[in-house]
Amino acid sequence: ALTWTPAVPPSDLEEFGVAAATVGGLKVALYAVDGEYFATADLCTHGAASLADGFLDGELIECPLHQGTFNVKTGAAVGAPCSVAVRTFPVKLEGGLLHVGLP
Ligand code: FES
Repeated sequence: ALTWTPAVPPSDLEEFGVAAATVGGLKVALYAVDGEYFATADLCTHGAASLADGFLDGELIECPLHQGTFNVKTGAAVGAPCSVAVRTFPVKLEGGLLHVGLP
Protein backbone atom coordinates (compact mmCIF):
# COMPACT_ATOMS: atom_id res chain seq x y z
CA ALA A 1 0.00 0.00 0.00
CA LEU A 2 1.07 3.55 -0.58
CA THR A 3 2.00 5.83 2.26
CA TRP A 4 0.51 9.25 1.56
CA THR A 5 2.81 11.91 2.95
CA PRO A 6 1.93 15.61 3.15
CA ALA A 7 4.24 17.80 1.09
CA VAL A 8 3.34 21.39 0.20
CA PRO A 9 0.20 23.45 -0.38
CA PRO A 10 -0.76 23.83 -4.05
CA SER A 11 -0.08 27.57 -3.73
CA ASP A 12 3.66 26.73 -3.64
CA LEU A 13 3.33 25.70 -7.29
CA GLU A 14 1.53 28.82 -8.43
CA GLU A 15 4.51 30.91 -9.45
CA PHE A 16 6.69 28.45 -11.36
CA GLY A 17 4.48 25.37 -11.63
CA VAL A 18 7.10 23.39 -9.73
CA ALA A 19 8.31 23.15 -6.15
CA ALA A 20 10.55 20.89 -4.10
CA ALA A 21 9.51 18.95 -1.00
CA THR A 22 11.01 16.26 1.18
CA VAL A 23 8.72 13.32 1.85
CA GLY A 24 9.76 10.27 3.83
CA GLY A 25 13.40 11.36 3.56
CA LEU A 26 13.19 11.60 -0.23
CA LYS A 27 13.48 14.87 -2.10
CA VAL A 28 10.78 15.17 -4.73
CA ALA A 29 9.67 17.79 -7.22
CA LEU A 30 5.96 18.53 -7.51
CA TYR A 31 4.41 19.96 -10.66
CA ALA A 32 1.13 21.58 -11.65
CA VAL A 33 0.03 20.91 -15.24
CA ASP A 34 -3.41 22.12 -16.37
CA GLY A 35 -4.86 21.86 -12.86
CA GLU A 36 -3.43 18.39 -12.24
CA TYR A 37 -0.53 17.55 -9.96
CA PHE A 38 2.43 15.26 -10.53
CA ALA A 39 5.61 14.35 -8.69
CA THR A 40 9.00 12.97 -9.61
CA ALA A 41 12.23 12.37 -7.77
CA ASP A 42 13.94 15.75 -7.57
CA LEU A 43 17.37 14.52 -8.61
CA CYS A 44 18.04 14.58 -12.34
CA THR A 45 19.06 11.15 -13.65
CA HIS A 46 21.88 12.75 -15.66
CA GLY A 47 23.72 14.60 -12.91
CA ALA A 48 23.58 16.39 -9.60
CA ALA A 49 20.82 18.85 -10.35
CA SER A 50 17.49 19.59 -8.73
CA LEU A 51 14.61 19.35 -11.19
CA ALA A 52 12.59 21.64 -8.92
CA ASP A 53 15.05 24.37 -9.92
CA GLY A 54 14.30 23.70 -13.57
CA PHE A 55 11.90 25.26 -16.02
CA LEU A 56 8.46 23.71 -16.45
CA ASP A 57 7.02 24.03 -19.97
CA GLY A 58 3.67 22.28 -20.21
CA GLU A 59 4.30 18.73 -19.05
CA LEU A 60 8.06 18.91 -19.60
CA ILE A 61 10.58 19.84 -16.95
CA GLU A 62 13.88 21.17 -18.23
CA CYS A 63 16.87 20.41 -16.02
CA PRO A 64 18.68 23.58 -14.98
CA LEU A 65 22.14 22.06 -15.46
CA HIS A 66 22.29 20.78 -19.08
CA GLN A 67 18.74 21.49 -20.24
CA GLY A 68 17.74 17.84 -20.63
CA THR A 69 14.00 17.25 -20.31
CA PHE A 70 11.60 14.80 -18.70
CA ASN A 71 7.88 14.31 -19.04
CA VAL A 72 6.59 14.93 -15.52
CA LYS A 73 3.53 12.70 -16.07
CA THR A 74 5.47 9.59 -17.07
CA GLY A 75 9.01 10.32 -15.93
CA ALA A 76 10.26 9.55 -19.44
CA ALA A 77 13.51 11.18 -20.49
CA VAL A 78 12.54 13.07 -23.64
CA GLY A 79 15.38 15.50 -24.25
CA ALA A 80 19.14 14.93 -24.43
CA PRO A 81 21.36 14.52 -22.57
CA CYS A 82 18.84 12.76 -20.32
CA SER A 83 18.29 9.13 -21.30
CA VAL A 84 17.20 7.43 -18.06
CA ALA A 85 13.65 7.97 -16.83
CA VAL A 86 13.11 9.74 -13.52
CA ARG A 87 10.95 8.01 -10.91
CA THR A 88 7.38 9.27 -10.59
CA PHE A 89 4.99 9.26 -7.62
CA PRO A 90 1.24 9.70 -7.37
CA VAL A 91 -0.07 12.97 -5.91
CA LYS A 92 -3.39 13.80 -4.30
CA LEU A 93 -4.82 16.96 -2.80
CA GLU A 94 -6.28 16.44 0.65
CA GLY A 95 -6.97 18.89 3.46
CA GLY A 96 -5.41 21.73 1.48
CA LEU A 97 -2.07 19.96 1.06
CA LEU A 98 -0.59 17.98 -1.77
CA HIS A 99 0.30 14.48 -0.61
CA VAL A 100 2.83 12.23 -2.31
CA GLY A 101 2.24 8.48 -2.38
CA LEU A 102 5.34 6.49 -1.52
CA PRO A 103 5.54 2.74 -1.98
FE1 FES B 1 20.22 17.25 -15.61
FE2 FES B 1 22.57 17.09 -16.86
S1 FES B 1 22.18 17.11 -14.73
S2 FES B 1 20.58 17.33 -17.74
